[in-house]
Amino acid sequence: MARLVIVSNRVGIPDRGARPGGLEVAIRPALKRHGGLWFGWSGRVAEDVPQSVKIAAQDNITYATVDLAKDDYQEFYNGFANRVLWPILHYRLDLAEFTRRDLGGYVRVNQYFAGHLEKLLRPDDVIWVHDYHLMPLAKALRDRGHHNKIGFFIHIPFPPPEILTALPNHDQLIPALCHYDLVGFQTEVDAANFARYIANECGLPWASGNSFHFGNRIVRIGTFPVGVETEAFARLARRAVETHFVREVLGSLSGRSMIIGVDRLDYSKGIPERMSAFERFLANFPDWRGKVTYLQITPRSRTGIPEYADMGREVGEAVGRINGAYGEASWTPVRYINKAHSRTALAGLYRAARAGLVTPLRDGMNLVAKEFVAAQNAEDPGVLILSRFAGAAHECAAALLVNPYDPEGVGNAINRALSMPLEERRQRHSANFKVLVRNDLSHWAGRFLRMLEPPEDEIDSRTLVRAAGAR
Ligand code: UDP
Ligand code: G6P
Repeated sequence: MARLVIVSNRVGIPDRGARPGGLEVAIRPALKRHGGLWFGWSGRVAEDVPQSVKIAAQDNITYATVDLAKDDYQEFYNGFANRVLWPILHYRLDLAEFTRRDLGGYVRVNQYFAGHLEKLLRPDDVIWVHDYHLMPLAKALRDRGHHNKIGFFIHIPFPPPEILTALPNHDQLIPALCHYDLVGFQTEVDAANFARYIANECGLPWASGNSFHFGNRIVRIGTFPVGVETEAFARLARRAVETHFVREVLGSLSGRSMIIGVDRLDYSKGIPERMSAFERFLANFPDWRGKVTYLQITPRSRTGIPEYADMGREVGEAVGRINGAYGEASWTPVRYINKAHSRTALAGLYRAARAGLVTPLRDGMNLVAKEFVAAQNAEDPGVLILSRFAGAAHECAAALLVNPYDPEGVGNAINRALSMPLEERRQRHSANFKVLVRNDLSHWAGRFLRMLEPPEDEIDSRTLVRAAGAR
């Protein structure tokens, strides 16, 4: 079988400690199963111009990473990727800060990645590129003469053309995706938005319902909702809930119910809106005061970007306001923590919680929602309260689906979750869990890679069927 080469900006280099981020969490087990090369940014910013690729190997994964120069880090990572693409792809035109200089940095870093990657490539490698940082990478490789199969998967939402066309230079950037052989999305809605962009803005001829012609190649579009290792995570949670750490947290609640939220500190996650919802809940359902504690774990993220620092302040103020207004000497309504936690710790905490609050304003998938479901005790499960604007809502339809912009509605859902009869909790959990077992992480990677490069026997049988049809 051909070697698999994963390319992503963030690389899950082992022994770096807990760092939150769905991309890294999804890729590592998938690549571990297949074996292969993982290429991307080392996470380091070099003082002078960085030169060499660092290679490390563990299990059957080879990690090849490069540093970024200061300007590249600023213009590519803090600039175009996270101050232009991230907000626009999350439907937040109001937050996009476009500059031509940052766009230049974005293109330059994609060229830089291609230049280093090509030295490691073999002609029959299958290349799988991940996320919005690297949209032009296939074009950069094709321009250098590489004919490998190259797939692209975007972990975050893909908005309709009406939003995307507000991005200056979108007509150069988005069509660069046509240099991939397969472009994958989290949901049907994202895939349909891309198809509409291709039809409206590029006018390329369709080859079938989900593929189009680009030069002499066919580009396929697919939907591959990223999953979690559902059953392994359930096992982890069963063990983790017995650990000293989780017991200590539970002990400190003095018998109160716990609600949990786990998100990077990012405006897409709707944390201030969630705080307002919890505040409404305490105001509207006074019987719950003193009986429930909301634990919000929120590691800081992308701290060099002003909007993220603003968010940090806003959430801190909201927590202070709620605890000041409703807290007692013996009870703190909201525990707000910026420290990243290990997956074992999270698994145990999810299992110990009565409700999981996952209310992003917009999210490609949201793995925390799926992990929360996987971690529950099926006999006595907690309830998932989930934003309808998270990709996960398509699969976790048995969650309490909410509109994160409506604090009153989310507050009511919290009350409903905490008061829900056991039988209803079991039914909802079982429905969600079944879906997540069917579409777990291995299905996601397996389906994408089979579509990118079908196994020889499948190609043979398809060729035979086509040949038979032609006769
Ligand atoms: N996560 C973690 N430690 C933390 C917080 C989060 O390991 O302290 C993990 C979490 O378990 C999940 C991932 O980071 O697997 C976050 O993925 P998600 O899709 O929910 O959001 P993203 O951060 O990718 O936008
Ligand atoms: C999301 C993005 C990933 C990114 C992660 C963490 O999951 O889809 O591409 O790696 O957030 O963000 P960071 O900027 O720290 O890589």
